[in-house]
Amino acid sequence: MNKRKVLHTELCDMLGIEYPILLAGMGGLAGEGHSAQPKLVGAVSNAGGMGVLGATGLPLDELRAEIREIKSLTDKPFGVDVLLPSALAEAPPADMSLAEMKRKFVPKEHIDFVEKLAEDYGVTLAETKQEFIFTEEHSKKQIQVMLEEGVPLFCSAVGILEWVVPMAHEGGMKVLGLAGNVRGALRHKKAGADFIVAQGHEAGGHTGRVSTFALIPQVVDTVSPTPVLAAGGIGDGRGLVASLALGAVGVWVGTAFLFAEEASITDIHRKMMMDATEEDTAVSRVWTGKTLRQIKNPIQEAFDKSGMPALPMVTQVLLMADLIDSLADVEKYDLLCAPTGQIVGMLKETKPAKQILDDMVDGAIKLLGQTLPDKVRIES
Ligand SMILES: Cc1cc2nc3c(=O)[nH]c(=O)nc-3n(C[C@H](O)[C@H](O)[C@H](O)COP(=O)(O)O)c2cc1C
Repeated sequence: MNKRKVLHTELCDMLGIEYPILLAGMGGLAGEGHSAQPKLVGAVSNAGGMGVLGATGLPLDELRAEIREIKSLTDKPFGVDVLLPSALAEAPPADMSLAEMKRKFVPKEHIDFVEKLAEDYGVTLAETKQEFIFTEEHSKKQIQVMLEEGVPLFCSAVGILEWVVPMAHEGGMKVLGLAGNVRGALRHKKAGADFIVAQGHEAGGHTGRVSTFALIPQVVDTVSPTPVLAAGGIGDGRGLVASLALGAVGVWVGTAFLFAEEASITDIHRKMMMDATEEDTAVSRVWTGKTLRQIKNPIQEAFDKSGMPALPMVTQVLLMADLIDSLADVEKYDLLCAPTGQIVGMLKETKPAKQILDDMVDGAIKLLGQTLPDKVRIES
């Protein structure tokens, strides 16, 4: 019998996994739950990579239930990804309802704009029923749940990790921080993160200004010997090999795993991804106040064209919450945020997560096994 070849880096030893491929945490999508939910996390971990649960916005009981579900699906290591509130400097008091916060913090001009948008798209605005959980207190409780449940890896894209690292390490949990520039990567290193993801502009979801190709080697050089994973636009074996060539020890993959059969996304999001070219995504602050890449949509375009300044993160979320929930209630998912990276133009097939991972590994092994990539010659 043909034994599968192994693609191994130091990341595999550090995390106890077979292949240096992590499923990126993906969460917080209205109408879709979260994309990187237990089934997908379990499938990626079982296939030899590492699944990471996108747990942003999950109340504590749901977080615990989903971690337990993952543990029932796999005995392999996995991670949990949340947004931390330390980046949300203007976080309002936790005991206010979202509606009260909105009245207090969101400017009338912005509210009028969103009400007009709702009218234009024939949606009756209802007050959101979401609770506000972006507080440091809630984050500490989330981490406590992760420690109690023995989660091996804590991940966060937004937020500073200073207070997380000692708490996690004391409970035996490793910490991964994501950065879109060298300064952010250095901050994670100083805070004691075990791994740093350097993520380029191409990525789906919140993203910075520097492209993957330029960012990876600069972060690798700056934070060495802290291991770096590459993210943003990695969709097959070529992306994995390029990441390793740039000095990364592994990859953090979001958009490509949205094409997994196990991914929890709406049929509309899936169709939008199938139809999208590499030019059909846009970066906008409309949904969260921070730059976020998604498939272009009319709400995002209307906001961006209006010239209306985006509000700081929490305030913009408050502004949009009623509209998002009201659109989701009437299943107008095509008007909602569909975070997706530029690599989407290349990906057109839904497959089991294991197949996506195996194809990436096999492609990388084939490429690395060649003396030189196709069409490259060295002459003397
Ligand atoms: C649908 C979707 C949802 C995402 N949700 C989150 C999230 O909740 N928290 C987070 O830190 N990053 C989130 N991201 C970013 C991913 O974790 C990851 O950094 C990114 O997808 C990597 O780039 P790629 O899409 O080009 O692979 C999301 C990305 C996508 C595509």
